[in-house]
Amino acid sequence: MKQRGEKIAVLTAYDFPTAQLMDQAGIPMILVGDSVGMVMLGYPDTRSVTMEDMLHHVRAVTRAKPRALVVADMPVNTYNTADDALANARRFRDAGADAVKLEGPVIEPVRALTAADIPVLGHIGLLPQSAKQYKAVGRNPESVAELLAAAKALETAGVFALVIECVVASVARQITASVSVPTIGIGAGPDCDGQVLVAHDLLGLYPRVPKHTRIYADLGDAMRKAFAAYRRDVQEGKFPGPEQSFS
Ligand code: KIV
Repeated sequence: MKQRGEKIAVLTAYDFPTAQLMDQAGIPMILVGDSVGMVMLGYPDTRSVTMEDMLHHVRAVTRAKPRALVVADMPVNTYNTADDALANARRFRDAGADAVKLEGPVIEPVRALTAADIPVLGHIGLLPQSAKQYKAVGRNPESVAELLAAAKALETAGVFALVIECVVASVARQITASVSVPTIGIGAGPDCDGQVLVAHDLLGLYPRVPKHTRIYADLGDAMRKAFAAYRRDVQEGKFPGPEQSFS
């Protein structure tokens, strides 16, 4: 897609019906992100997510057999060494994932995975598994140099694409121009080769809306109204009606 000059629209999904709907909408890459911890499981951050949590959700997504490339996010501390990365990535492959994502310039684990023919999506910029605070990266020359070096090192280690999270737009443009693999931005401006969003954010299903998100449908509001209407109908004896009853 990068070679054809087509922008790549990536979304997160964590369950079977959402993966089916995304496939019907032509989404080419689905990320089973560790954001599942916050948006689906009620954890305070992504650091609480376990391999078992991720495997459960990866299996639900891959059961939908989407045409999209399915990428499994490796939870924190599951790729501290090349051996750990290999063992855990193989579990994701067995669960049906096409590729895995690792945060940061973790060159040895990435080399080990690509050498074992496991495709890796890199991730630079704001790294939620280790960040002390959630704010944009790339605001000073040292940070820009670090980002450019990380992107190059990950490309050399064999990643097939790079997520760039919460990076100043002009710096994300510079990174995109400096690597041959596609860059997928989130809060990284319009010049990346693709974009990724957390589906719950764009559907209005998560109370905190990050600056980089656009709400495409307010399903949170629609669901709240539907639940309240159902409660009223039950309380007022209007549900079930004759259509929902057997005679
Ligand atoms: O876990 C996730 O959803 C992610 C995206 C924000 C890139 O890593």
